[in-house]
Amino acid sequence: MKTSIQYQGFKTVAADAVVFAASEGVAPSIDNAAVSQWAADLYASGEFTGKAFEIAVLHQPAGLTAKRAVLVGIGKLEKLDSAMARKVGGAVVRTLKAKSIGSVAMVVDASLQKAELVQALAEGAVAGDFEPDEHKSKKDSKHLESFLLLAEGGSTELAEALRNGAVIGEAQNFARALVNEPGNLLTPLKLASRAREMAEAQGLGCDILDEDRMKQLGMGSLLCVSQGSAEPPALIVLSYKPANPMPGIHLGLVGKGVTFDTGGISIKPSENMEKMKYDMAGGAAVIGAMLAIAQLKPNVEVTAFVPTVENMPSSKAVRPGDIVTSMAGKTIEVLNTDAEGRLILIDAITYAKQMGVNRMVDAATLTGAISIALGAVNVGAFSNDEAWQSEVLGAAKAAGEKMWPMPMDEEYKDLLKSAFADMPNIGSRGAGSITAALFLKEWVEDTPWVHLDIAGTAWIDDGKAWLSKGPTGVGLRSFVALAQRLGS
Ligand code: BES
Ligand code: MN
Ligand code: ZN
Repeated sequence: MKTSIQYQGFKTVAADAVVFAASEGVAPSIDNAAVSQWAADLYASGEFTGKAFEIAVLHQPAGLTAKRAVLVGIGKLEKLDSAMARKVGGAVVRTLKAKSIGSVAMVVDASLQKAELVQALAEGAVAGDFEPDEHKSKKDSKHLESFLLLAEGGSTELAEALRNGAVIGEAQNFARALVNEPGNLLTPLKLASRAREMAEAQGLGCDILDEDRMKQLGMGSLLCVSQGSAEPPALIVLSYKPANPMPGIHLGLVGKGVTFDTGGISIKPSENMEKMKYDMAGGAAVIGAMLAIAQLKPNVEVTAFVPTVENMPSSKAVRPGDIVTSMAGKTIEVLNTDAEGRLILIDAITYAKQMGVNRMVDAATLTGAISIALGAVNVGAFSNDEAWQSEVLGAAKAAGEKMWPMPMDEEYKDLLKSAFADMPNIGSRGAGSITAALFLKEWVEDTPWVHLDIAGTAWIDDGKAWLSKGPTGVGLRSFVALAQRLGS
């Protein structure tokens, strides 16, 4: 789908559909008698009220070149924010492509003529075009050919906003496509080569640490997870360094990249196990964020670290009770081989610190417990530094990703005790997402850090009006917004 902006009126645009935003309770005033009357009649009859994502279609509107006029509900005008604009963009694309419409032009009226709303519309429209049907011979749905925004008397600022939105939406779809790939097709080395291809095309630095290098570095924690799999592990490192970086800031993005999580010897029940292909969603969000960052070029140094492994049971697999030594030298008693995400993350975190990262965010499908706490609505955000946490949550809010601060009181640490090593890899009972975060914190130490547990939000089982079912790409937009804010 091509996205573009044009500074022209809607009357002469040659599109399959020209779309007008229509707010709740107030028929839009449209400078065309036929369309305006049609809209007024719809509101008067109550057939269309302007509630969010309602759609009405008029064929052959008199006086317009376009084949159809479309009203899309945007809800109450005073509640119109970028989160709503993003959803509206997605809903327009999803509803119209389902009707086999190819080209859509949406009118950016006075209420929408703000950079943040235009960016969000474009993000939503591009993300709305994604379908998780890569491997279906007969595709579920069609795709739009083009999505055009019509901003009469618009500015270069709006054009910039559109480009920002399209870049971010496309990066999000890139990440979602990776998450959607099954474990047999996207192994750790495949994920690494996809990241390398992207990095080379975008001019990012790329270093992929193989098993030997990780052994030399003493990454015993990461390597104990991959040892049960025939698929070799990797640590993907992508780096972005602008010409004039903000001095003193080196942002590190760390993403969990378990391409498939069976649980290992502490094997998972078979019901729903197929979904564990999305256990690399944090890694995909980080890699996708780097794709957007490479194009949007914020003035801040950013390095991504994605430890990637497959968690399998086998005669070579790590056993419950095994004791391993992490790169930082601390020993871990592996009490449950299904708590593997933290084991691979901590060696990546130690490596990130060694590479000079001084602000850190990680994203990981770390615990089922976060879905119990927050459902599929909010990402759990854990931190060791209040100022940094509010910086990250501020970026998330601006990017329209819901995140909620979670507690990390010292008292919870009593649940993390091993009789035989420095730390066990699971807590004794309760507060599973918190003990997982506290485990990571032992390796993060003093570096300002936020841990995002995205296990509940990285995948949706039911599609929304504005987004297909499947991978969401959550985290990516916040990372990009964070880099842009740090660089300005
Ligand atoms: N990848 C899972 C967490 C997960 C669960 C992600 C459901 C997405 C949906 C993680 O590796 C895991 O298995 N965590 C365990 C931890 C437990 C053994 C302490 C869990 O949540 O059960
Ligand atoms: Mn697991
Ligand atoms: Zn996992």
